[in-house]
This record gives sequence, structure tokens and C-alpha cells, in this order.
Amino acid sequence: TTVYISRDSGALSLGAEQVAAALRAEAAKRNIHCNLVRNGSRGMYWLEPLVEVATDRGRIAYGPVRVRDVPSLFEADFLQGGSHPLRLGPTDEIPYFKNQERLTFARVGATDPVSLEDYLTYEGYRGLRRALDMAPSAIVDEVTNSGLRGRGGAAFPTGIKWRTVLNTPSDIKYIVCNADEGDSGTFSDRMIMEGDPFVLIEGMTIAGLAVGAAQGYIYLRVEYPHAHRALTEAIEAAYRSGYLGKDILGSGKRFDLEVRLGAGAYVCGEETSLLESLEGKRGLVRFKPPLPAIEGLFGQPTVINNVISLASVPIILDKGGEYYRDYGMGRSRGTLPIQLAGNIKYPGLIEKAFGVTLREILYDYGGGSASGRPIRAVQVGGPLGAYLPESRFDTPLDYEAFSAIWAVLGHGGVVAFDDTVDMARMARYGMEFCAVESCGKCTPCRIGSTRGVEVIDKIMSGIDREKNLVLLRDLSDTLLNGSLCALGGMTPYPVLSALNHFPEDFGVSAAEKV
Ligand code: NAI
Ligand code: SF4
Repeated sequence: TTVYISRDSGALSLGAEQVAAALRAEAAKRNIHCNLVRNGSRGMYWLEPLVEVATDRGRIAYGPVRVRDVPSLFEADFLQGGSHPLRLGPTDEIPYFKNQERLTFARVGATDPVSLEDYLTYEGYRGLRRALDMAPSAIVDEVTNSGLRGRGGAAFPTGIKWRTVLNTPSDIKYIVCNADEGDSGTFSDRMIMEGDPFVLIEGMTIAGLAVGAAQGYIYLRVEYPHAHRALTEAIEAAYRSGYLGKDILGSGKRFDLEVRLGAGAYVCGEETSLLESLEGKRGLVRFKPPLPAIEGLFGQPTVINNVISLASVPIILDKGGEYYRDYGMGRSRGTLPIQLAGNIKYPGLIEKAFGVTLREILYDYGGGSASGRPIRAVQVGGPLGAYLPESRFDTPLDYEAFSAIWAVLGHGGVVAFDDTVDMARMARYGMEFCAVESCGKCTPCRIGSTRGVEVIDKIMSGIDREKNLVLLRDLSDTLLNGSLCALGGMTPYPVLSALNHFPEDFGVSAAEKV
């Protein structure tokens, strides 16, 4: 019998390693042979450590399993799917999981992440095989037709970015994967790198074929040691079997791939700062233009994409751009891996077609707040995303719908807060975050953010409140329009959205809004 326990860091932090050891020991004690596979996480974090058993009725799930539950699982004959208080039934039937549209995450939780054999069994490398027979321009067309837009947050059409790199003549080009996932409340990059690293490797290889690049780098944040391990093992396996290297599957085409570790600066997730860091320099933001697509890494044309953008490419090449494009709404095509966190009952990863509303995510999936109190605010799109009140919960997750309410979808992180939250403190945190993480290159961000914290402190203590509120708006305007990159440029989102939607927390009544 095969038993699955996740190696995902979320599951590990909840005790998956200890549960796996206890299962092994208990099986040995009872003289039972079971094959223990360490899979990725299904993304239902409140059920981790989740234990799944392969039966002829599919996988049966039990969870959350603690070490002390292990003997009783054996007594309940869980290896045959026997009944037990922790039995959740077939994994595929758990509504949270069943009601998703898992395209990019199709294999995460199903396979052994570092088994190339598993990857191939679950339709892996079909996109690459197809791409190997296509002209570069046709590969770019397929990605353009899919409607895929950059999942790092800026939503720039991936096909157009690739076209720019393809059309820029150069002997040397690069594919760089931005795996410096730094937004608070986001973890989809980490989950896919830990749970299905081959899909990222395949996506990057296809990108290389599409634009004529033979070298790829994954810029991975150093705080992701488990992702690092999984990627390293998968890259080695891909080299051993001819999926990477100088002659991919005997095609005569070449693609090499390396992982580089970041040093822990949020701003190194900004693409030009990332390139500086990758070149071995301090992570200072560069002026644009030139765009990285034209002069990127070491001055060469470079595709720089987020993990999820690249990991969405294999299914697009395998099933066709049309297939992918069929999901979604408006100009937001395909699916978004939504990461639900904060004060929420059922936190986790929910991959859905664009168009699902915040309310559905928070209540149908999330089950409301963990504290049982009303959800008062959510922050979508990381620490520089806007705070939204209940009156905005019916907004569909769609890039344009979010910009229409002065918010961003960003990388798809949703963090919930109940009614005990102090939104003035959250605004202060946004400003302080900018002050701490600023690379220092431009004045509005470097100095403005520090002054901004002081201004918010004065507002919070009631010192010259009216005057300081005007000053805060003025400063936000300077940050919005005068910053070189999105770090300074987006800081006004959390600050002003908190002030606009929750003025009472700043000592201002809604009627006398400044
Ligand atoms: P941007 O709008 O300047 O650029 C988007 C991408 O399109 C870049 O790669 C740019 O080089 C490329 N591009 C633009 N015009 C192009 C053209 N004509 N041809 C080819 N490529 C072109 O946005 P930026 O500054 O790269 O990203 C800001 C976003 O990052 C924010 O919206 C935020 O949501 C997100 N973000 C994500 C984080 C994460 O952890 N995933 C952390 C912080 C911010
Ligand atoms: Fe650096 Fe901030 Fe300017 Fe961005 S906005 S370039 S982080 S100083």
C-alpha cells in the first residue's frame, strides 16, 4: 500500500516529519509493509499533516494527523481506507479541493515532486515535446493566444514579453525565473517549487526554445530551503534523463538551468534589482528603459517571469492556448492560484478561474474568520496591496475589476482581518515596510516613507490631525507618481485604502472625510 505525507514546508511546520516517522515505526512494529511517498501539499493547510492512502477507490484522506493518532489509524485499518474520526473520505471529493480548477497545480499533492517517472505518468513534459517540434515564433504565438499575463503581479502579457526577446537579435539570451516570492500572505511559488518543481523546469525550457535562450536561472529566496532541495533534486534528474543539457531529448537543442539564492531583500523581487543581484551586485533598482527584454541580465535580452507564469506554460503548450483561454473573464484569462491566509478558518491554496469573487473565497472556501468574529478587512496582493472593506467583497478576482476599485490582485495573496484590527496601525505598517525595504535610490521612497511613518504617528496620537491628514495624502501622491519602482509607487495603496475605507480608525468620522 502507498501512503502519502507531504514534504511541503507548511505541512512540515505542522509536524509532517514526525507523523511520517511515527507511521514508519508503527508499520515496522506491526510487520506491515507500506510504501511512504512524500508528496507536495494539496493546499488545505488546516488539514495538514494530511495522510493519504492509495486504495482501489482512489486516495482516501485522513487529517489533521498527530503523532498520537498513528496507532489508532492502524487499528482502524486505514491502509484499506477504514473508518476513523479523522477520515475525510476521497481527497478528490473534499469540496475545497473538488471545486477548484487546477491547471497549473494539477500535479501538486498527487505526485512525488522529485520523481521524474511520476511527472511523466501525470502528463508531464508533453508541452516540451510539442514545443521541440515547433518554430520559436509558433511557441510564442501559442502563449500569446492563451492570454497568459504575468502572475508576479503586474499582469503584463507573457507572449508579448517573449516576442520582444525573440525579436531582439543576440547570440546570448537568458531566461530568469523570479522566485523571490516576498509578499506577505503569498506562498504559491513556494508550493509549486516544493510540490512540482518539474513543471517550472519544463516551463523555463519551453521559454528558452521560444526566444532562443540556452541558459536559465532561478533566483530563489534563501528562506525557501525546502524548495531549494526539491528544485536541486529535480534539476539533477532532468539532466540525467536528457530533459536539460546540450541535446534535449536528442533534438540538438540546448538548455541549461541553475538555481541562485537571493540574500533576503524584498526589493530583489523587483526585476531589475533581481538582475543586479544575480550579477553579483547590490540589489539596486535600475532605470527602465531599457527593458530587461532588450537589455537584461549581463546586458543581454532576458525573459524574466514569475514562477507561476512559467509553470503555467507547459499546460498551454500541451493542451493549446485556446484550452487555457477558455477559463477566466474579460482580459484575465486562465486561472489564478489564490493564497488565502490571515484570520481565516480554512487557509490554503485555491486555484480558480478568474471571476470568482472575494466573498466566495472568504466564505465558501475560507469558512469565515478563524476567530468567529466578522471579517472587517482583507488585503489582496501583498503588503503593498489595498485593504478592502466588506462592501467590496463582491468584486470578482479580475485584474481590471480590481484596478477599478483602486486595488491590485498582485500575486493573488488574500489576507483576512477580523473586527479587532486597527486599520491606522495597518497603514503605519505599510509605510514602515516601505521605509525598511527601500533600496534608497530615489527620494520619495527613501525619505518619504520615514516621514510618512512620523506623520501617521502624529495622526494616531491626535496631533494636528487635519493638517497631518492633508500632508499624508500629499506625500502619498508624491510616492505614487515620483517613485522609480513599485515598492515606493505602491505604498500609498495600503495607506490610503485604510484611510479611505476605515476613516474612523484614524479618528476621522466618515462624514468629515479628509
Ligand atoms: P511593470 O508594469 O513595470 O512591468 C511588468 C513586466 O512587463 C516587467 O517584466 C516589464 O519588464 C515588462 N514589460 C513592460 N513593457 C514591456 C514591453 N513593451 N515589452 C516587453 N516587456 C515589457 O511592473 P513591475 O514593476 O515589474 O511589477 C510590479 C508588480 O509586482 C506589482 O503590481 C506587484 O503586484 C508585484 N509584486 C509582486 C511581489 C511578489 O512577491 N510576487 C512582490 C512585490 C510586488
Ligand atoms: Fe528603490 Fe524605493 Fe526608489 Fe524603488 S521606489 S527604486 S525601492 S528607493
